[in-house]
Amino acid sequence: MPVVAVVNRKGGSGKSTLATHLAAHCAHSGIPVMLGDVDKQQSTQAWLRLRATQAITTPAPIVGWTVDPRSVLRAPTGVTHVILDTPGGLRGFDLARVVMFADVILMPVCNSVFDRESAADCYAELLTLPRVASGRCRVAAVGMRLDARTKADEVLKEWADKQKLPFIGVLRETQGYVRCVEQGLTLFDMPPAKVEADLLQWKPILSWLSPVLRPAPAAVKAKPAAAPTPAPNGSRADSLKPAQASLLVYGQRDAHKRPSAPAALAPVAARPSMFDRVGSLLESWGVSRFLQR
Ligand SMILES: Nc1ncnc2c1ncn2[C@@H]1O[C@H](COP(=O)(O)OP(=O)(O)OP(=O)(O)O)[C@@H](O)[C@H]1O
Ligand SMILES: [Mg+2]
Repeated sequence: MPVVAVVNRKGGSGKSTLATHLAAHCAHSGIPVMLGDVDKQQSTQAWLRLRATQAITTPAPIVGWTVDPRSVLRAPTGVTHVILDTPGGLRGFDLARVVMFADVILMPVCNSVFDRESAADCYAELLTLPRVASGRCRVAAVGMRLDARTKADEVLKEWADKQKLPFIGVLRETQGYVRCVEQGLTLFDMPPAKVEADLLQWKPILSWLSPVLRPAPAAVKAKPAAAPTPAPNGSRADSLKPAQASLLVYGQRDAHKRPSAPAALAPVAARPSMFDRVGSLLESWGVSRFLQR
């Protein structure tokens, strides 16, 4: 099950905004998605409650879920993708644990020297983790809250190039994001003509993510006519029963289910090092135990 985590140590960098938008994009694309909160603030769950008050129709639901690190993580039946929001200051064991789950890490980065420094530190730590170092978990930066009148996008792109960190797009600073998120909405819920310029900015980001954020073939077969259903709140979550044993992470047994990754997200062709193999072993052997610290 593809998992996209939004990570940046810097508070207020736009993680929850990015996570809620990705979840809404999935819902509009017919992908039943779970929006999980590693964040104690539970920002995205609050957003889902607000969303419940809106009359929005999407072809697939957004299911709310709070990550409980003490239990084995299970996705509700029907959910095919997971978006994880994370708190500021994530590092060490907590960061490593998120990476154990994630196929992709998106890092929203604002354009200030403090934000860039913090993101560089976070990326350096990510690179020490076997799943990231081997390319099994891909990391990319998104320029966030950029002033469209400045050259902030160029500065950030240059910075990302120096870090050898894929830089997949920028989102401008606009009150549209603030207003939408405050109501449990996203720009993807707006009439496209009203947010045309912003949707254009999302294109390269979604295109890079498309190998991961595409409807799962099995889900399409199982529910071919997933009729547009009001998704008042992710409240369709109520009808989604807990799965028997669907760990969010691919174990060795699930390896064949992993979607093939096209070029943009294809793992780097590298012979797994001993370090990688130990990492894989840990994953397949002790995911649940590892989580029940
Ligand atoms: N592109 C944007 N334009 C304008 N405002 C934005 C944009 N993206 C995010 N914001 C605003 O910036 C603030 C911080 O965003 P957000 O809550 O998503 O950050 P965060 O990284 O999740 O913060 P925290 O670390 O506290 O969880 C919010 O008020 C949000 O509405
Ligand atoms: Mg947040």
